[in-house]
Amino acid sequence: MYKFSHIADDTAFSAFLSDEDATLAFGRQLAQVLAPGMVVFLEGNLGAGKTTLTRGILRGFGFEGRVKSPTYTLVEPYSLLGLKPDSNLYFYHFDLYRFNDPSEWEDAGFREYFNAESICLIEWADQASGQLPAPDWIIQLRPEGEGRQLLLCATSELGQTCQNALTLAAK
Ligand SMILES: Nc1ncnc2c1ncn2[C@@H]1O[C@H](COP(=O)(O)OP(=O)(O)OP(=O)(O)O)[C@@H](O)[C@H]1O
Ligand SMILES: [Mg+2]
Repeated sequence: MYKFSHIADDTAFSAFLSDEDATLAFGRQLAQVLAPGMVVFLEGNLGAGKTTLTRGILRGFGFEGRVKSPTYTLVEPYSLLGLKPDSNLYFYHFDLYRFNDPSEWEDAGFREYFNAESICLIEWADQASGQLPAPDWIIQLRPEGEGRQLLLCATSELGQTCQNALTLAAK
């Protein structure tokens, strides 16, 4: 069973996602409030919907191409340059399920991916906890009935500002 980070329920944003389309639609909403420089940990078991949510976010940023799971490549880079009038962002989707060699982190140059012009989403962040910066958001996905229960928790000031924007938009 996946070991989730502790989140205080009363400060978290929650949403029930009844099917895959709901996950994609919620991802699009997240794209409206995600800020440059953000680091997001996606938590949940195999098949929880982490990659689906990432695909929704990328669609929200205007990326219409294939979004594949970076299980073997560890990271999939996307340029969002010019996709939207105001977008000059890079977007990195990590899946660290198979990450097991900390020296690979430096060798592959992953550290440079975390900067003010990029957004980094990370599945299985606990596999590389010594290498990663602290997240701005933690998003958890758990199966519930036929769908998924999502919890989003801000873990930085920037993350809180963006969570507030999400709460406002959802009203
Ligand atoms: N809200 C939802 N309700 C039901 N099924 C969903 C929902 N969101 C996504 N799914 C389905 O869950 C399946 C697995 O999704 P996905 O590949 O995104 O999981 P993952 O968390 O990235 O898994 P992994 O850890 O293996 O990378 C897909 O078949 C997708 O259609
Ligand atoms: Mg995945």
